[in-house]
Amino acid sequence: KKVIFSGIQPTGVITLGNYLGAIKNWTRLQDDYNCLFCVVDMHSITVRQDPALLRKRARDLLTIYIAAGLDPEKNIMYYQSHVSGHAELSWILSCFTYMGELNRMTQFKEKSAKHGNNINAGLFTYPVLMAADILLFQSDLVPVGHDQKQHLEITREIASRFNNIYGDVFTVPEPYIGKVGAKIMSLQEPTKKMSKSDENPNGYISLLDDLNVVKNKIKRAVTDSDREVTYSEDKPGVKNLIDIYSSITGDSIESCMNEFQGKGYGDLKRIVGEAVVEELRPIQERFKDLQKNKDYLDSIIKKNGETANYLATKTLRKVQKKVGFPVRI
Ligand code: TYM
Repeated sequence: KKVIFSGIQPTGVITLGNYLGAIKNWTRLQDDYNCLFCVVDMHSITVRQDPALLRKRARDLLTIYIAAGLDPEKNIMYYQSHVSGHAELSWILSCFTYMGELNRMTQFKEKSAKHGNNINAGLFTYPVLMAADILLFQSDLVPVGHDQKQHLEITREIASRFNNIYGDVFTVPEPYIGKVGAKIMSLQEPTKKMSKSDENPNGYISLLDDLNVVKNKIKRAVTDSDREVTYSEDKPGVKNLIDIYSSITGDSIESCMNEFQGKGYGDLKRIVGEAVVEELRPIQERFKDLQKNKDYLDSIIKKNGETANYLATKTLRKVQKKVGFPVRI
């Protein structure tokens, strides 16, 4: 079986964008691939975090993975910080990455504009750690939302560069970006992506939002002054709601549009709102159950962390040997 790797930062709440752009696709892929789904807590500290809150969010995120339907017996779900190979490979890869390449990363530019008082070196080398995450497991496919495309390109670049020097060490991974749902937009400013760092909570839906709140946020979603439900770039708010619906139901845009034929914005919002609520309801129920089962979660975290560590060490030793580090006896 081919290998899949993906991860989410335990920073802020987990949004419907994270779910539709990433997690939901993962659940579809888990039967056909060997999957690793990581909680990338090391990436999170590129921005200041409250330690107790970070720890809680990391655990909640892992719980969400399972609650959303990822089977912990089939997939390796673990904390990045529990596998030291991520940091070790990241150092080696940083010596094969150019400043110029990192300078071109749009996410770095955006984040450094936003966190002007803390433009740290980790924020700059963030894509190298991400490349290490992926290459450490010889991943074939990386299912992510559209905003990670550039990071996947630099990962491929670094892998090929390394392979050109040392022979075929790394699998060069392909991005897997869903047709719909890869870019869920803010409900309040539909030309911006839905983001957990949005100051206006009406712009995003958290997977753990109260279900009445979810309905209301969709009811209040910005559309336009028109009435007709059409799917076009000129109507980003309406398009976003249709994308959300299509991505949840798995139906094509055409078949969704047939369903909305002759309906107004009120109906659209009601139908989409119900679909989102019914999608989140079982996830929230399982989340609450899992939270109560501390020992079960702990055992998964321990077991999966050990497996990830074993696999990571295999690649790491190979890479260390290639670059000329003394072999361990
Ligand atoms: P992060 O934590 O920002 O987002 C996690 C995943 O959610 C997707 N996503 C979206 N998809 C659709 N619409 C949106 N509005 C939306 N917002 C977020 C992201 O594309 C991502 O797939 N650097 C990564 C984490 C990471 C990673 C990795 C991912 C670290 N190492 C290795 C894959 C492989 C990040 O910050 O994602």
